[in-house]
Amino acid sequence: MSISVIAIDGPSASGKGTVAQRVASVLGFHYLDSGALYRLTALAAEKAGADWADEGAVAAVAEALDVVFAGEAVTLGGEDVSLAIRSEHIGVGASKVAALPAVRTALLQRQRDFAQAPGLVGDGRDMGEVIFPQAQLKVFLTASAEARAERRYKQLLGRGEVADLAAITADLAARDERDRQRPVAPLRQLPDARLLDTTAMGIEEAVATVLGWWQEQS
Ligand code: C5P
Repeated sequence: MSISVIAIDGPSASGKGTVAQRVASVLGFHYLDSGALYRLTALAAEKAGADWADEGAVAAVAEALDVVFAGEAVTLGGEDVSLAIRSEHIGVGASKVAALPAVRTALLQRQRDFAQAPGLVGDGRDMGEVIFPQAQLKVFLTASAEARAERRYKQLLGRGEVADLAAITADLAARDERDRQRPVAPLRQLPDARLLDTTAMGIEEAVATVLGWWQEQS
């Protein structure tokens, strides 16, 4: 029997991570935050002194990532980097290294290995297209650019970071553009994905919608 997979893709700061985590928790499924792997790769490359544009060097870093996910916490080589990978700087680096085909290949199997019984909710940009094309439910979760910038802004303030709404809006736009235009695994809504626009929707409603779709197809 194949493992149940729910693939949730969408742009930055759309809330897909929170929704995916909650859905996984309700269903008792595993959770894959694939963006974290690209963020970890960007951070590890920086620590190793590798340029984010150096495909060979960054792919080697991705291949060798010594990562442990333990609930909310992530360690890299034994060091807790849960907060470090969430900075805007590393987010930008993640979208740069994610555009390199050899880096995506290096992280492919590591992502597929998350699909364990009883099931998995994976969130990212290419969950439904590349990593889990067999997923029983595919969701494209988005929100307007303004709503997403506002959410990221509040998230950063909530963490006590200095945040500038205009800079965040510009960063998100540049990141989205890079994710949509890249030749490998570009961000796009698949024909077999259901669209969930959360611009005017709270988390609970978004979670309930995905759970409803899951029940429909099970
Ligand atoms: O989702 P998150 O903002 O953490 O992802 C950081 C970056 O990693 C994204 O901007 C995107 O470029 C890249 N990414 C990707 N494919 C995924 C997940 C994330 O290219 N499956």
